[in-house]
Amino acid sequence: MRRQRHVDVDLPWEGGQWGALSVETIINNLETNPSRLEWTQEVTGLKIAFIRHPDVEFFTAGSPHMNVGMACNDCHMPDVKIRNRTFSSHNLMSPLKADMAACKRCHYDTTEELRTTVLEIQNANASALITAGYKTATAAKLIELAKASVETSAADVQPAYEQAVGHYRGALYRVIFMGAENSMGFHNPAEGQRILADAAAEADATAAILRDLLTSRGVEVPAEVPLQLRTYLDNRGAHQKGFAAAQYIPDPAGIAQTTWPVSLAALLQ
Ligand code: HEC
Ligand code: HEC
Repeated sequence: MRRQRHVDVDLPWEGGQWGALSVETIINNLETNPSRLEWTQEVTGLKIAFIRHPDVEFFTAGSPHMNVGMACNDCHMPDVKIRNRTFSSHNLMSPLKADMAACKRCHYDTTEELRTTVLEIQNANASALITAGYKTATAAKLIELAKASVETSAADVQPAYEQAVGHYRGALYRVIFMGAENSMGFHNPAEGQRILADAAAEADATAAILRDLLTSRGVEVPAEVPLQLRTYLDNRGAHQKGFAAAQYIPDPAGIAQTTWPVSLAALLQ
């Protein structure tokens, strides 16, 4: 893949290497530059950076197709024949909508097999993303509870609290990163699973530290922290966007539903 040159856009790639722009490098860049912390998260009050469409970063971090020298256009601009001449299609779209024609230049599988493979990868990714998302939301609610119930700047509390917040930021950025890439994990399946496993672990670490801290201060923490999702899903941003039931996706593996019994009906209440 040719190195893409960006003239105006300031990308958080410093310290990274082309082809190895890991999510860790990106988070480190964002976190060490206070001017990038552009929005404030309501529930935690923390200032956070944006991560926008990290498709190049995610794909180039050692994906199987990157490793064999492919670029975006190999799948998204497949060759089309017009009057016996071959052109590359400029109709950028999902390979799933074009009978997987892009894939068949190299893979001998049938359309159905290829489609099933893509959907399996995407389902596994969606499951990990939803699970990590609920864990991260739980961590956010615990930060909110800690801030409301203990003096988090007190000398004996602060180090643990700061540590918990550090883990939370690691979880949140990874979940945002995976939510913002556009292929639902297909561009780099193993890397996606790695990032989301790390997100879940960071969120669990936040929760463990804060549960200890709160308990030691005599604050009772429920085993299942109410996520109060509806509070955050309605009236979002300047456009006051509301929760859209049609966009609710249950965990394809059914794991999140059993751990966090968040049904569509409960959300609609
Ligand atoms: C090996 C093939 C392949 C390569 C290479 C590839 N993609 Fe994709 N891309 C896909 C597939 C498959 C999807 C999932 C489409 C779907 O879910 O409908 C996708 C989805 C997308 C989407 C969402 C499009 C939509 O209609 O849903 C965008 C945007 C995208 N890719 C950008 C890129 C960029 C940028 C690169 C290079 C950095 C890249 N892709 C490299 C196969 C590829
Ligand atoms: C230019 C050739 C080429 C195109 C086009 C291509 N692939 Fe591949 N793909 C490869 C090669 C080569 C590998 C094997 C890499 C390896 O074995 O390490 C591979 C690996 C894979 C894998 C295994 C990934 C993994 O995690 O191990 C899947 C799944 C896959 N391709 C699906 C697709 C789909 C779906 C498309 C179309 C959207 C596509 N490929 C387009 C060449 C291609």
